[in-house]
Amino acid sequence: MIPKSLAVLVTAACLSLAATPDGFEPASEVDLIVVYNSTTALNGAVVPRTATTSQPRIGTTTRLNGTSYAVLMIDIDIPTNNPPQTNTLLHWFQTNLVPSQTATAITVPGSSTPLSVFLLQNRTAPNASPPITSYFGPNPPARIPLSHRYTQILVDTSNLTPQGARALEQAARPAGGGVAIGFNASAVLASAGLSEKVVAGNFFNVTNPGPVAGATNGTNINAGPGNGTTRG
Ligand SMILES: *[C@@H]1O[C@H](CO)[C@@H](O)[C@H](O)[C@H]1NC(C)=O
Ligand SMILES: *[C@@H]1O[C@H](CO)[C@@H](O)[C@H](O)[C@H]1NC(C)=O
Ligand SMILES: *[C@@H]1O[C@H](CO)[C@@H](O)[C@H](O)[C@H]1NC(C)=O
Ligand SMILES: *[C@@H]1O[C@H](CO)[C@@H](O)[C@H](O)[C@H]1NC(C)=O
Ligand SMILES: *[C@@H]1O[C@H](CO)[C@@H](O)[C@H](O)[C@H]1NC(C)=O
Ligand SMILES: *[C@@H]1O[C@H](CO)[C@@H](O)[C@H](O)[C@H]1NC(C)=O
Ligand SMILES: *[C@@H]1O[C@H](CO)[C@@H](O)[C@H](O)[C@H]1NC(C)=O
Repeated sequence: MIPKSLAVLVTAACLSLAATPDGFEPASEVDLIVVYNSTTALNGAVVPRTATTSQPRIGTTTRLNGTSYAVLMIDIDIPTNNPPQTNTLLHWFQTNLVPSQTATAITVPGSSTPLSVFLLQNRTAPNASPPITSYFGPNPPARIPLSHRYTQILVDTSNLTPQGARALEQAARPAGGGVAIGFNASAVLASAGLSEKVVAGNFFNVTNPGPVAGATNGTNINAGPGNGTTRG
């Protein structure tokens, strides 16, 4: 007979639904459930770009006790002019979310039992916060790499200080406007006193069908699907 503690470990390993990608800091092995309408986007799954155009629902499989959470989504595979070097881009940053106290049943393709998910929700008006960075969907261009890993982390901001909140805003909103390219989640969370506060994570994969456009050095961003000003 397998000792109970070992059985629990084995079960947990087999049921891993979501985690941050290898090498990503700050890492988390706790499931962050990410659901686009009816499409779950978990644990590196390949998801069609068209399924990800509007903001997903997010949640956890265990009930959270904090009073306030933030979600960040970062593309960690932004092409550069020196492939295979890559950069990062912040796609979504919403603070002031509260964990629901009751679970919602969410159907997962390939599984007969629905997942019980404690969704993170905005506070009700007028207490909701506007997003620091409004969600914009994946759009990997026809450059190297064609596959991008969109990484989500959930951060417990229950004890965030006003200085910490300002540090987050500053990091997500580059001087002069535009998107936050080169967003370093570790450094940003450290600057806000949140280094140890990542409570769950996930990533999924959106891939441009290719082929890589333009010259061998891949600097032509204006050809093929996913072109234009969006870098990922
Ligand atoms: C997902 O649902 C939202 C609102 O329910 C809708 O606006 C959006 O078009 C849907 N997106 C897709 C890809 O089906
Ligand atoms: C939340 O509180 C409950 C009851 O006090 C406890 O059992 C549970 O472990 C806590 N969850 C977390 C994530 O801290
Ligand atoms: C929360 O509310 C703001 C507006 O107050 C909205 O822009 C944002 O999309 C909402 N976020 C979520 C996760 O529903
Ligand atoms: C991100 O920030 C951390 C902590 O400041 C640092 O160790 C790391 O090298 C940075 N990563 C990149 C790619 O600059
Ligand atoms: C993402 O998906 C594509 C298409 O299936 C695959 O070729 C690629 O290896 C995947 N990338 C990662 C990092 O898993
Ligand atoms: C890459 O290609 C573009 C246009 O094809 C060219 O302007 C640029 O100089 C090339 N860069 C390198 C590093 O070869
Ligand atoms: C993107 O590429 C398409 C052809 O695939 C082209 O029609 C369109 O003008 C391009 N857009 C930009 C902004 O370059």
